[in-house]
Amino acid sequence: MNNKLKNILAELEKTSSLYWNISRPTAIFINSIIKEAKYKTILEVGTSTGYSGLWIAEALSQNNGHLYTMESHAKGRFALGEETFAKSGLQKHITHILGHAPEAIPTTPKKFDLVFLDATKEEYVDHFEALKSRIKKGGTIIADNLYSHSIPLKPFVEKINSTPDWKVYEIAIGTGLLIGVKN
Ligand SMILES: C[S@@+](CC[C@H](N)C(=O)[O-])C[C@H]1O[C@@H](n2cnc3c(N)ncnc32)[C@H](O)[C@@H]1O
Repeated sequence: MNNKLKNILAELEKTSSLYWNISRPTAIFINSIIKEAKYKTILEVGTSTGYSGLWIAEALSQNNGHLYTMESHAKGRFALGEETFAKSGLQKHITHILGHAPEAIPTTPKKFDLVFLDATKEEYVDHFEALKSRIKKGGTIIADNLYSHSIPLKPFVEKINSTPDWKVYEIAIGTGLLIGVKN
């Protein structure tokens, strides 16, 4: 990772609790999975200031891939995310969408290698329903806050566990990650 990106990420970490950014270990883990699996097309629901988006886009820049990242908070967090991505030099790997999932999902590509959910927890079931057929075989869905928001995530966890063709893993990192792999 270049020094410019390292500095932007370090700056964003100063406000991570204010903007609910993922933890650095979680970010490094997701960045490593993308590089290792050579994923190319990724959707993130919940951009906030673009911290997780930059880690994802940095990995995708090595795979010649592209991130579609969606944020519904127009005036504050979407605008801050725009600033983050403009400074990063990674814009050609990022489409930053002002919109609310799942309604805005049809504006994105038909198939994804990876979907990262980090938005309103109660809505994950709706996102899963809207996205499960758009995730490639062998592709992955990652949801943050498995342990910190276990109650609002419960319907989603039950849904993915009872959906045929999905293998589910828990990773004890940051606030807890659920990883679903589509067979
Ligand atoms: C936990 S923060 C995202 C943090 C970001 N992933 C990071 O680690 O840098 C959640 C964000 O999701 C946005 N959000 C919540 N529900 C959404 C939805 N249904 N569609 C798009 N954005 C949503 C919120 O406005 C908020 O900025």
